[in-house]
Amino acid sequence: MNKYRGHSFRMTCRRIMIVIAAWTLFVHVMLAAKDANQLIVHADQGKETISRHIYGHFSEHLGHCIYGGIWVGEDSKIPNTRGIRKDVVEALKKINIPNLRWPGGCFADEYHWMDGIGPRSKRPKMINTHWGGVTEDNSFGTHEFLDLCEQLGTEPVICGNVGSGAVEEMSKWVEYINFDGVSPLADMRRMNGREEPWGVRYWGVGNENWGCGGEMTAEFYADQYRRYATYCRNYGRSRLFKIAGGAGEADYHWTEVCMEHIGPGRMWGLSLHHYTTTVWGAPKGSATEFDEQGYFVILDKCLKIPEVIDNHIAIMDKYDPQKRVALVVDEWGTWYDVEPGTNPGFLFQQNTIRDALVAGIHLNEFNKRCDRIRMANLAQTFNVLQAVIFTQDDQMMTTPTYHVFDMYKVHHDATLLPSDLKCENYQLDDKILPSLNASASRDSSGKVHISLCNIDPNRSAGLDCELQGMKVKKVTGRVLTASEINSHNTFEKPDTVKPVPFKDIKIDGSHLSMVLPAKSVVVLEVQ
Ligand code: AHR
Repeated sequence: MNKYRGHSFRMTCRRIMIVIAAWTLFVHVMLAAKDANQLIVHADQGKETISRHIYGHFSEHLGHCIYGGIWVGEDSKIPNTRGIRKDVVEALKKINIPNLRWPGGCFADEYHWMDGIGPRSKRPKMINTHWGGVTEDNSFGTHEFLDLCEQLGTEPVICGNVGSGAVEEMSKWVEYINFDGVSPLADMRRMNGREEPWGVRYWGVGNENWGCGGEMTAEFYADQYRRYATYCRNYGRSRLFKIAGGAGEADYHWTEVCMEHIGPGRMWGLSLHHYTTTVWGAPKGSATEFDEQGYFVILDKCLKIPEVIDNHIAIMDKYDPQKRVALVVDEWGTWYDVEPGTNPGFLFQQNTIRDALVAGIHLNEFNKRCDRIRMANLAQTFNVLQAVIFTQDDQMMTTPTYHVFDMYKVHHDATLLPSDLKCENYQLDDKILPSLNASASRDSSGKVHISLCNIDPNRSAGLDCELQGMKVKKVTGRVLTASEINSHNTFEKPDTVKPVPFKDIKIDGSHLSMVLPAKSVVVLEVQ
């Protein structure tokens, strides 16, 4: 045997040993976890639809969300369509963005829409008092936002000004946007270049009116809502879906008062804002510089969302057992300290695999409550909080959270399949969290999709998954994971965290067995 043949023989033996070792590890993990990690998907059941609007987004006049993130103006060297960046439109279309909420947020309750129409050079300027005290030149207004929505093929969700506005102002905005006939407002729209009404259906009546939206009591807001909503008219065939400004976090009194005093007949939805953060106030901790304690704290906070939602839903059920009013989680996501050296009022933070897990868990929990939750909006789309897209001059990149929305888009308008999950704990010192989180759905072509999160950053998880009532013929999947708990994408390395095919799945009749890597999000497609 010459030197080279001896070398290739050794290489072959080594490869065989690696394969045997990997297989032994797989079997070992599977056997160890067989009883511990089990998911039963009732593939022969399911009646509720997971509204695609659960996968909605939110863009406020805040930092570089609108200006720089989406709007660069017609004269920019950055490729754009009528001032709107082409690269971000393309990226958002890929994840089938179903709706976009605008113009805020806190900004909504100091925004006067008439300042944002007509020739841009003549639009008055204002101070964005909430977000850095910068000058807002109103160059991105109603026409620009609705043009963006048309380019994206997405539904606009417009939030009106209750805090510092007037009933008449909001009423006229609806007329300007939706009225088809002859009226002063519809004529003004035509004069500004838009013949056809847009027919916007979703209207938020104020934002956080217990706080930045006017510091109101729940009782006062409920009365205000009734006034505002009365004069938001249905024009033509467009029926308005009015969303009452709801509670922040665990403010159950707010939900109780809105349900009792506004009642199911007057609102399509009631909102809820829930951010995943360590504390309100500073310091909240860095988006990227954290140890396992910091990782654990955020996932612990994130896993509180089911309880908070269920408590709000229980109140809604009391007044509305038929579930006519949707729970609209129109602001959610992680909130950390801003990146060093950036404007504290611009809320720019990085995004790691930890954020991807937070997104995966929220979306699973929303899916499982789709009989009540019919819309949700991640805060915020570009360059702010848990963004899906970062821009820097002419560069654009996607975050780990973007990839979760891409992987989970298979759930849009699919039928929720009930599931039961039993799993091991992820333990850090004396604290524990359930290591796995899941949801499942069947799409209109009969394919079943299962989304899974393994939050344990140190251990992979063997999982036995039974699809009751289904004989599995084929399964494919994608996995999003990373080498470190703080792995993230940058403009220099935009693909550090990105999904890859997930292949290690064994089929046995109606059972699947697999090993979910540590800190991973996996989505399976089963036929
Ligand atoms: O998303 C940032 C801010 O958070 C929003 O403007 C406000 O509604 C919430 O407090």
